[in-house]
Amino acid sequence: MAVVQIKGKSQLSGEVLISGSKNSVLPIMAASVLCQGVTILEHCPDISDVHDMIKILESLGAKVSFEAGTLKIDTTERTEHEVHEKDAKKIRASILFLGPLLAKDKKVKIGYPGGCNIGKRPIDIHVDGLMHINAGFMMGKDYLVCETFALVGDRVKLRYPSVGATQNIMMAATLANGKTVIENAAREPEIVYLARHLRSMGADISGEGTSQITIAGVEELHPCRTVIPYDRVVAATYLILAHVTKSEISISPISDTGDISDVISLIQNAGGNIKQNGTILNYHPTSKNFPIQIETGPFPKVPTDIQSMSMVMGITATGESSIRESVFENRFTFVDEMRKMGADIQVDGDVAIVKGPQELYGASVCVPDLRAGAALCIAALVAEGVTQIANWELIERGYENFVQNLRHLGADIEYC
Ligand code: EPZ
Repeated sequence: MAVVQIKGKSQLSGEVLISGSKNSVLPIMAASVLCQGVTILEHCPDISDVHDMIKILESLGAKVSFEAGTLKIDTTERTEHEVHEKDAKKIRASILFLGPLLAKDKKVKIGYPGGCNIGKRPIDIHVDGLMHINAGFMMGKDYLVCETFALVGDRVKLRYPSVGATQNIMMAATLANGKTVIENAAREPEIVYLARHLRSMGADISGEGTSQITIAGVEELHPCRTVIPYDRVVAATYLILAHVTKSEISISPISDTGDISDVISLIQNAGGNIKQNGTILNYHPTSKNFPIQIETGPFPKVPTDIQSMSMVMGITATGESSIRESVFENRFTFVDEMRKMGADIQVDGDVAIVKGPQELYGASVCVPDLRAGAALCIAALVAEGVTQIANWELIERGYENFVQNLRHLGADIEYC
């Protein structure tokens, strides 16, 4: 178990290059099995979730190379359509092979997905949606088997705008017979980027970014080259870090601020000053630090992935903040770790109340999930004294060069 030590209080400064988006690249990697040939993905983040997806692609018979941020996936000789249980349960994104393998091979055997322990995270919406377009399922204890004689397009209404389920159904529908309309589809930027990638592969798809996505099935798809957009959650992490440590920090390349406009507004309403200069966002500290009132939800609401980090905004703000988590039922588990650092956070069901400003002090804490780990790291930079953070490898699932970047900004941080 990796342990990192951080000595606070820290005031930082400098520039950070934001890596490619984990939650954009993972579905696009899965989409490579929809065609035969070489898919090229540039600005791909060097994070452990990507390496776990590479392992699955290689187990399916694809040839993969990853050098200097460019990922090449050659599916010319892919023959397998089984995702092994031990590989599937390492990450949530493994389930994203279900739709494309079903579409291309008409049969999939796949272990159940793993991922952060932020809730039960069932896959019923994925299954119901694919059954609607003529897929049959056998749900085993460790595996599910899904097959079809032919996928047939239909109207699919999701009971909840699940990101992963929208992605799976989109990918499956690209090769179905006829037209599929997904209603109550997820609207996250990651849906938009996947749709653009599928369109570059020859898919007939429209409506991405709205609640209704239409896909007209085609005979076959071909490989393409895509530049992965910046990671909006990683960008948000550094902006929130700058705000709570009152640091002058610039982040780039921010190609489309629309993907983080909610976070920019949240920080500006809390008193932070963010200026855009081309594809660079500059954070300037001010003397103001107002409390926040947020409710997480499906895009365009505040993303659940920044909920734990926004808690540190409440801790440093002057006044009472309230944070409602409405996406995952178990995403306050990090609060106990924050309390070890002296945080006073009152949790009542899905709402957390924080009265700031509070002084935090260094402690030994353990990362419960990826984004909570980033929040604990930010808290350690605000705290007085030394914090030891265990289970650091969970952070490295989604943050490229996190220790190096923080050290570059002036943080006193080292692996133990
Ligand atoms: C994606 O997870 C992201 N992961 C998550 O980021 C993100 O928090 C989430 O979307 C919400 O934006 C990846 O893209 C790899 P959902 P996903 O299906 O697709 C329930 C991170 O830290 N649900 O939109 O799994 C589910 O339990 C991760 O980068 C069902 O009930 O999220 C949850 O309560 C964490 N049945 C809600 O819907 C289903 O079949 C949202 O889940 C599917 C989901």
